[in-house]
Amino acid sequence: QEHRSIYEAIGDEKLQILVDAFYKRVASHSELTPIFPADLTETKRKQKQFLTQFFGGPPLYIQEHGHPMLRARHMPFPITPTRRDAWLSCMREAVFEVGIEQPYERIILERLTMTANNMMNTPEDEK
Ligand code: HEM
Repeated sequence: QEHRSIYEAIGDEKLQILVDAFYKRVASHSELTPIFPADLTETKRKQKQFLTQFFGGPPLYIQEHGHPMLRARHMPFPITPTRRDAWLSCMREAVFEVGIEQPYERIILERLTMTANNMMNTPEDEK
């Protein structure tokens, strides 16, 4: 039986590479640049902390920022179905770029897809 967390299976170094590969794509995606800050340094740092705990590693995000309340924290940004798709395509490409073994690759993409669906807060025609 397998007792490793997703975080342990990927490793901290690869998680950092994944976060960098993801925001490199976000920074040049025309659907996403209007809502993200130009300087993604702090965004990357928070996302690395969040994904560490989301994947079963130490609770770094909650220690520094409190309960994630992700849907509430995303309310200031109009997240349409198109932006959800854009976010997920950047993440999918980043996951493929870094190369993660199965079943972790599949589990990671499933969990992120569910979370991204929950982040939508704006119909397509109101952005
Ligand atoms: C922050 C967009 C989905 C985790 C943000 C920010 C934006 C954004 C614009 C603010 C960046 C900043 O000011 O630094 C989106 C869009 C999504 C999405 C368009 C599409 C569905 C997700 C998902 C997760 C996530 C699925 C988690 C798996 C975070 C975290 C932060 C964040 C942890 C930092 C919150 C903080 O300020 O402490 N997101 N996001 N986001 N997002 Fe997302």
